[in-house]
Amino acid sequence: MNTMKSILITGGAGFIGSHVVRLFVNKYPGYSIVNADKLTYAGNLENLKDIEDKDNYTFEKVDIVDAVAVNELFEKYKFDGVIHLAAESHVDRSILNPLEFIMTNVVGTVNLLNAAKDHWKDDFSNKLFYHVSTDEVYGSLGEEGLFTEQTAYDPRSPYSASKASSDHFVRAYDNTYGMPVVISNCSNNYGSFQFPEKLIPLFINNIKNNKPLPVYGKGDYTRDWLYVEDHAEAIDTIFHRGKLGDTYNIGGFNEWQNIDLIKLLCSIMDKKLGRAVGSSEGLITFVKDRPGHDKRYAIDASKLNRELGWSPSLQFEEGLEKTVDWYLTNEEWLVRVTSGAYLNYYKNQYELS
Ligand code: NAD
Ligand code: TYD
Repeated sequence: MNTMKSILITGGAGFIGSHVVRLFVNKYPGYSIVNADKLTYAGNLENLKDIEDKDNYTFEKVDIVDAVAVNELFEKYKFDGVIHLAAESHVDRSILNPLEFIMTNVVGTVNLLNAAKDHWKDDFSNKLFYHVSTDEVYGSLGEEGLFTEQTAYDPRSPYSASKASSDHFVRAYDNTYGMPVVISNCSNNYGSFQFPEKLIPLFINNIKNNKPLPVYGKGDYTRDWLYVEDHAEAIDTIFHRGKLGDTYNIGGFNEWQNIDLIKLLCSIMDKKLGRAVGSSEGLITFVKDRPGHDKRYAIDASKLNRELGWSPSLQFEEGLEKTVDWYLTNEEWLVRVTSGAYLNYYKNQYELS
């Protein structure tokens, strides 16, 4: 009989998901990890090349909006735990196409909750549905204060509204059906394998190619930044030791105004590319603001530190430098994810073999 613990990780081919899959596959050889991902533009199996041949790893191409497919997945693998990361994740795209965010982030999450409920309902013991969410559900801060786990929800973009809705459904399944759940809400992540539509990888790519850096508004918006591997470690900690039914905020205690971050990034890139100091700053171009742009996010992650002992491992400058190094040495990855070439990889790997 197979006694391995069976864990479903959704969205494992994306940015954060790929780091979580890698961590779990390497750290827990006694777990059988199934990565279920639709492989949207943001999902890329190349992100997992280093672990794809491991015995405790399986990939399944699944759209979580397809309830039948989600059910079949639960039927096939008899999961003990779910770590749910699959989502549409980019605010700008949510402004262009809100419905896609409702489908994946809300309907997709409810499909997973239903499948978990149906398969676990006779015995919820030793089961866990871990929902990975964002600090953006709390809305926008003024100059002062931090988001805590008690901050009232006030989502202000279609993306954050869809994530807030999914959080509410997860809590509703706990309250109504007794589903064992845990939720974490994390600040902005940065690091390797992030799709170059988000601020840091987009600007690294543009600086490298001497293209304009489109700064929304005056660049006076503030975000709290966390290195993605620190987020993956936090997820590991909460998955194993978090209190059932609880919420944990995750953040870097690391606030930056966009314009200051961009100038720091420019100076790191100038050094790495052997350009004159200050030359990349000349690429900064102020453009039309994002509609409904949230002013400031800042997270109080002290509960996670106090109760479970987690804290971020890297200083921002160090993490940013590592990130720049990764993008500069993985130029081919950048070119491939921004072209159609990645589709050939998938065909070769899964459809022709
Ligand atoms: P991402 O966009 O890089 O990856 C999302 C993954 O989900 C992709 O692999 C994609 O193919 C997959 N996916 C999308 N729709 C799907 C569907 N219908 N069915 C199956 N798979 C689907 O996102 P990310 O930045 O890695 O974020 C992962 C999770 O973490 C999301 O839930 C996001 O809300 C949350 N989060 C992200 C950040 C951040 O800074 N990036 C911060 C806090 C929380
Ligand atoms: P982003 O990486 O999209 O994350 P989020 O909106 O979820 O916080 O953006 C981070 C910040 O950078 C946000 O204030 C918007 C800003 N930004 C720009 O100024 N220009 C850009 O081209 C992008 C993508 C973001």
